[in-house]
Amino acid sequence: MTDKTKWVVKDPKRKKVFLPSPAMKKRAYFSSTSLYTTAAKNPKKFWGDMAKEAIDWKQKWNKVYEEKPPYFKWFLGGKLNVSYNCLDRHLEKRGNKVAMIWEAEPLGERERKYTYRGLYREVCKFSNVLRKLGVRKGDRVGIYLPMIPETMIVMLACARIGAIHSVVFSAFSGVNFKKRVDDCEAKVLITCDGYWRRNKAINLKSQADIAAKAKSVKKVVVVKRFEGKSPVKVVMKKGRDLWYHELMENASEDSKPVPVESNTPLFLLYTSGTTGKPKGVIHDTGGYLTQAYLTTKLDFDLHDDDVFWCTADVGWITGHTYACYGPLSLGATMVIYEGSPDMPDWGRLWAIADKFDVSVFYTAPTAIRMFKKMGKKWPKRYDLSTLRILGTVGEPIDKETWDWYFDYIGHKRCPVIDTWWQTETGGTLVNALPGIGPFIPTVAGRPFPGTRAAILDDKGQPVKKGETGYLVFKSPFPPGLLRGVWKNPKKYKDTYWGEYGNRTYFTADGAKWYDKHNIRITGRVDDVMKVAGHRLSSAEVEDAITSHPLVIESAVVPKPDEIRGQVPIAFVVLRPGIKESEALGIELVKLVRKVIGPTAKPHKVYFVEGLPKTRSGKIMRRFLRSMLVNEKLGDKTTLQNPQIVDYLKKVVGYKKK
Ligand code: WT7
Repeated sequence: MTDKTKWVVKDPKRKKVFLPSPAMKKRAYFSSTSLYTTAAKNPKKFWGDMAKEAIDWKQKWNKVYEEKPPYFKWFLGGKLNVSYNCLDRHLEKRGNKVAMIWEAEPLGERERKYTYRGLYREVCKFSNVLRKLGVRKGDRVGIYLPMIPETMIVMLACARIGAIHSVVFSAFSGVNFKKRVDDCEAKVLITCDGYWRRNKAINLKSQADIAAKAKSVKKVVVVKRFEGKSPVKVVMKKGRDLWYHELMENASEDSKPVPVESNTPLFLLYTSGTTGKPKGVIHDTGGYLTQAYLTTKLDFDLHDDDVFWCTADVGWITGHTYACYGPLSLGATMVIYEGSPDMPDWGRLWAIADKFDVSVFYTAPTAIRMFKKMGKKWPKRYDLSTLRILGTVGEPIDKETWDWYFDYIGHKRCPVIDTWWQTETGGTLVNALPGIGPFIPTVAGRPFPGTRAAILDDKGQPVKKGETGYLVFKSPFPPGLLRGVWKNPKKYKDTYWGEYGNRTYFTADGAKWYDKHNIRITGRVDDVMKVAGHRLSSAEVEDAITSHPLVIESAVVPKPDEIRGQVPIAFVVLRPGIKESEALGIELVKLVRKVIGPTAKPHKVYFVEGLPKTRSGKIMRRFLRSMLVNEKLGDKTTLQNPQIVDYLKKVVGYKKK
């Protein structure tokens, strides 16, 4: 169903402010701001009502919310099963409805479609496989899989038996996977032989083998992605490695979902913070699912006849919430794609959207900037008239990119929903809603109904209009918000509740009020980079570089990039007597790829004599950051070695002051 009604353009001179068309308002679940005011009056009641609608509870909760700062719980005593809510409950009405359409990267390979019943069967079977392998409620399962249907199947199978999954991005290295497996002590790993990426067969199993050496790992299940003769060499270790298809052959389809208390962990997802060690963010069951369900439904105004495509990889939170749990809990049809957007050419995503009549499309600004660069000729070749709503996520979107998306993908018909959130928040938290608006380029929008955002200055006071401060959330905390950091309560307290006390969730993002209700996000205020929308910490990349025997120390900072938003730049100090060389630079870049993965590779390596440091020896990355963009450098008096600044200016070709 397309909505061709003209857009209302309000106050075009000041800035474009779009409002929903009458048709959009009519179709939308909510079209008036009274949604926000009602929710604000009693957020606990709002979320309680929403949780009743969103979830089929096996047992109703006895208390809606409880806080023991900095911990909090939602729906206490309530029991549910996520896979039941994503599958079983849809069978009666939507058993034959397509739940998931998978598109392979090679054009010659046919798409695979799963109905709700089909998906249910696979999930039941695999949950029994897991049971047979000894996986029990609360056990951790490491998932290292690309965008193939089995990924969602195994996630849902874990949820079915109450096991906690931890998905690791398949483009991360095996070394990086192992770090996470070690931390969460996964009993079973699930991976595959390999997958197609830019026409190259990636051997994932060989990377998974690195992590399989972790002490906790008993079994490794290997999905066979390549049909027929495999383009990669897979070595199966006897007694440890098992083929998925062989295990599935004899598995029973009869599997009772295990109900768990609402505050039980559903999954862990490791994310980068300010130190080198990734944090295992804990998401609970009932709160997370309520937010996943409701944000999918309201942000994208998702109805039964929609086809939803979130392009995020399931290795990130966006993939968890919007390419798995959100759409499936709603009984929607979703699309997933294995490969790269430029295979065989830059029209591929539009070809897929056209082929499957996608109506809601959700992607990252980096991807749109790339499409914009490649030109409008690509989307023009395809029929995108089924699109109703466009979304973006992961990094700030600049005005030109917003406009291009709106004009050439949405054909000025589709609102662009700029969603701000984090791995930690589980679901979106700041964005406009399609039936309410306004949709303003560079302005994410309004805090989600029933949540309480504030923007504070250094002293904890609310900022005035136009001033930048820190984005925080106040009690009652969003139901999807993290419940802890795996095996590290101190990290949880310090990172999220250390800034303004344990009743204020600190996001580590800068923000300002655009008007009374709408928020503009200005970006991270800590040492976290967003590279092509991917989250990466400076310390993580530095640790990889300093693991090289010839390196003494290093500093990695982000530099703005036209397409990728930010790219990492490395400053490296070599051991005395070691000569810098291009070859060594390349070696370090390769090392980062090996230890972390290709997304983290530095775009430039500067070999330097020293780094700016405080008297206590802490590297002052902000000097390097400012130098790279010719920004004012600020006070040097706190430095132990202020003379290094002039030297570094020359090295990077700093132009100002
Ligand atoms: C960081 C979180 C949310 C899922 C994907 C990213 C930045 C995210 C936006 C946006 C400006 C954004 C923030 C945030 N960010 N969305 N719409 N506008 N910045 O999750 O990898 O945990 O990264 O991404 O800086 O803190 P993540």
